[in-house]
Amino acid sequence: MRKTKKETFNPFNFIIFGGDGDLALRKIYPALFHRLYDGQITPDFRIFAICRRERSLSEFKTSVLEFISESGKEFGKSDLAKIFLERIQLVQVSDFSPEAYSNLITALKPNQKAPNIFYFSTPSSAFGAIASALKENGLIDERSKVVLEKPLGNSLATAQEINRQVGAAFQENQVYRIDHYLGKETVQNLMVLRFANHLFEQAWNSQHIENVQITVAESLGVQSRAGYYDQSGALLDMVQNHLLQLLCLVAMEPPHLLEADFVRNEKLKVLYALRPFSKKSIKTQSVKGQYTRGKIAGQSVSSYLEDIEKFDSKTETFVALTTFVDNWRWKGVPFYLRTGKRMPKRYSEIVINFRPVAHNIFPSGKEIPANKLIVRLQPDERIELVQMTKIPGPGGYRYKPIALKLDFVDNFKERFPEAYERLIMDVVRGNQTLFMRQDELEASWMWIETISKSWKEVQMPVELYEAGTWGPGQDVMLEDHIWNTKGYAVD
Ligand code: BG6
Repeated sequence: MRKTKKETFNPFNFIIFGGDGDLALRKIYPALFHRLYDGQITPDFRIFAICRRERSLSEFKTSVLEFISESGKEFGKSDLAKIFLERIQLVQVSDFSPEAYSNLITALKPNQKAPNIFYFSTPSSAFGAIASALKENGLIDERSKVVLEKPLGNSLATAQEINRQVGAAFQENQVYRIDHYLGKETVQNLMVLRFANHLFEQAWNSQHIENVQITVAESLGVQSRAGYYDQSGALLDMVQNHLLQLLCLVAMEPPHLLEADFVRNEKLKVLYALRPFSKKSIKTQSVKGQYTRGKIAGQSVSSYLEDIEKFDSKTETFVALTTFVDNWRWKGVPFYLRTGKRMPKRYSEIVINFRPVAHNIFPSGKEIPANKLIVRLQPDERIELVQMTKIPGPGGYRYKPIALKLDFVDNFKERFPEAYERLIMDVVRGNQTLFMRQDELEASWMWIETISKSWKEVQMPVELYEAGTWGPGQDVMLEDHIWNTKGYAVD
């Protein structure tokens, strides 16, 4: 066990619907394990993995162990891994009938003293029915909490309906709408950077910032999620949640305190201030792309259509948008959002491009490149401030951009907890700051629908891009890019 100073928690029951699903295996069990390994939770919690079909417990535990070992072989071999697996119980709940739920009631009976934390990791169309079955079967009390995994609906109407149905069983202060990007270390550091440093906040507005660029590039394709992905596309899968949340953290006003509703009120104001897309702006301010066959890191990869085995799909695997936050602080500052699958590498960052100096006093007379602040989310989490520096030596004033780097990997040697670890612990401790409130979710859908509706109205074409390139437009290194108004990287 690592020796780190940690708060500890009382026992709890963690009940995962979709307990044998991909997300639970890849993220949720390893996250809980690492919190145990770090001593933040003691081995008196219990996990109930809810599955629709019957499964063998030993095979299931072997899969859980494999995913724990992926974060490091030593973890899988540790005594704590054995202890962790002992805490897991499989419960079959095949439908929403009282008979099916009696299995869960029986399993939870000996653990009634501990609060129930429900994690809904099924398609969101089932959330309402699960919530109401839990209520009818008397499994919810005022100590209970529920975590809702994305995507929450696929339109404003469906998101509202989910909110309504879940709200009939849980109070809003019991609901945790998770977006794992908010649990990422550098994303949280953005708050510290902005609100614990005098320097940046002074220049954080349209007077000093020329544009903001948010990029989430992935080298992976759609993996085993063809059915879901083809219904969503990159706009709903990534922009509606992750990219918008990042934009909110960059653009929001300082909250009064770092408390859930103060932070969420500020994020909500940003979402309301986002300029809606129209038939006119969508053509020049958005790009949709879909990957074709190509090569990534020397390996040939198939096209999106081959991956999903559906050859007439027009679903986008790449989106670039130019948007504006119409308020005093951000008047006229473009926010470029871009995300895509099957790009040359996994690479996500937020770049704040400052305005150039007002006047060049140096003899070369050439334009002086402007400062930029780069917040690198992944890989190699770091923050860089790019500034002009004199090239040493005689021969007049020659300068070039040099980055001041705060490299997390070099400066903080401990293992970086995964986003889910942080967020799950926030649920246990009852802190909703990093979770979306109902009105926030609905506001994000309202804006997203201006894009999807405008795309439909103008029959926006999907541009093809080769897997292993940076999407439609030119193939350039992200580190050096500037984007044109369409959102393409051009330089
Ligand atoms: C998920 C999306 O929410 O985020 C996936 O559904 C995507 O399509 C993933 O691959 C990216 O997360 P991360 O943490 O790997 O950047």
